[in-house]
Amino acid sequence: MKITNLMFVFALLLGLNLNAATSQYTLSFRDDPSNSIVVGWSGDNATVHYGTTDFGTAFGSYPNSKTVDRTASAHGINRKFARLSGLTPNTLYYFVVRDAGGAVSARFKFKTLSDNPNDPIAFISGGDTRDGFKVFGSYVESCPSGNCLEQKRKGNKLVAKIRPDFIAFNGDFIMNQVTSNTTAEWNEWLNDWQLTISSDGRMYPMTFTQGNHEDNQDVYNLFDVPMEEYYAINVNNGLLRLYMLNSELNACSNTAQLNWFTTDLQNYTNTANPPKWKFVQYHIPTFAMGNGYGLVSDQMSCWVNLFEQYGVKLCMESHTHITKWTLPCKKNSSETDFVPDPDGIVYIGEGNWGAPHRTLDFTGNNAKPYIRDQEVFDNFFYIRVNSNQTTIQCVKFDNVDNVTANTSDDLGKELPSNVVLWNPANGNNIVIANETNGLNENSISFSSVSPNPTKNFVKVKLDKTSNSGKIIVYNALGKEVLNQKFDNSQEIKVDLDKMYAGTYYLFVKTNEGKVESHRVVKL
Ligand SMILES: [Fe+2]
Repeated sequence: MKITNLMFVFALLLGLNLNAATSQYTLSFRDDPSNSIVVGWSGDNATVHYGTTDFGTAFGSYPNSKTVDRTASAHGINRKFARLSGLTPNTLYYFVVRDAGGAVSARFKFKTLSDNPNDPIAFISGGDTRDGFKVFGSYVESCPSGNCLEQKRKGNKLVAKIRPDFIAFNGDFIMNQVTSNTTAEWNEWLNDWQLTISSDGRMYPMTFTQGNHEDNQDVYNLFDVPMEEYYAINVNNGLLRLYMLNSELNACSNTAQLNWFTTDLQNYTNTANPPKWKFVQYHIPTFAMGNGYGLVSDQMSCWVNLFEQYGVKLCMESHTHITKWTLPCKKNSSETDFVPDPDGIVYIGEGNWGAPHRTLDFTGNNAKPYIRDQEVFDNFFYIRVNSNQTTIQCVKFDNVDNVTANTSDDLGKELPSNVVLWNPANGNNIVIANETNGLNENSISFSSVSPNPTKNFVKVKLDKTSNSGKIIVYNALGKEVLNQKFDNSQEIKVDLDKMYAGTYYLFVKTNEGKVESHRVVKL
């Protein structure tokens, strides 16, 4: 027996790993989270050995193995991904990563999500970990402890104690453009992410959006998400459709994203069993409460209509390093701001997973009427979803070392009892009841379009006899190509004769505030 093999046997006996040539382990979703997962690491062409029985680091005892499916590189960090499929839903899996030289990682474990939409789920939503205490010339960004990096690590340690079913991470991992050593920042981020692994080796999958501090394809190359810039996943096979939009792309003029999002919403609405919930996360708030950003008009004009029409109930935002949650709200008629509306959408944010603190823009008499509460502190949100309701809590990064660690691996479980919650004037949780089960009946099905596909025109028919408003048509590039008013009408003819063949999005907007969109194909 060679000496390296002897060392390996000793290491197994001692439960240690031999300085494996793999590190920076991550889990992500590319496909159905009930039966697949991606194991990612930095290092060489290792093999993942896995199964539903815990064999510790005895890699040869695991019944399954998977070699590298994809190699990628970003900022000088070489990432490897093994895509595990054919897994059993709602099941614990144990695995090790054995590198090309034979060294074996620690034994990790993960849990697949359920394939039953009646099962609950609980996940963490947060963003803006950034990268610590920074000085830019005379400008110093501040954290309460004077060390943002430590604040981020507190949040990561809380993940390990909470044991969420997954983490919806909402962008701005590092500073990137501002500092010169991006490789060091990403290495630091990936190393610090290992703090989220529980003491018994349990790891937690992530979903990702791109923030303004990431380069294009960073998320794709570092975590192996299914599409390069935006994507969606099904949670518990019909409980939740979760969208990861990319706010670095213009919401209107980037028609690839807009068309994909619109089509996906349609595909997941007009089905026999639409998802019970639709949630969206994207990095930059549509109307920010912090840091002077205010309104992002392209998102308000081209995304919020879709959110409202297709029954999105929760939007998760980040970017400005403050904390807010809203009352249910809808966009106002001029598309310049939100107004409270019981049938509207709850927006939460805005990214304070350790990033330097900023200030609130609208306070006192200027406070927005749709803001339920707002403050500035380090946190992420804990969101529990079942068929009937969604419960949102905001977890402070306080008292982390004394929080009692959850030990259960049940899906949808509650927070540890002594976790420190944000407890503002309007209470420490938000409950959203699932009354519409997907489709927002208050704002849809009041109009129809025919013929579709069409050669030269469509007729828009409205359910009421007398209506006033306008028809707006966007082309496949998201550009407005027609804006036609109507008065006291039930049927409006829209001439598409001079338009090129292709896909168009026709929006019907009544003066009562109803909005509905139709995908129209011009032959
Ligand atoms: Fe940002």
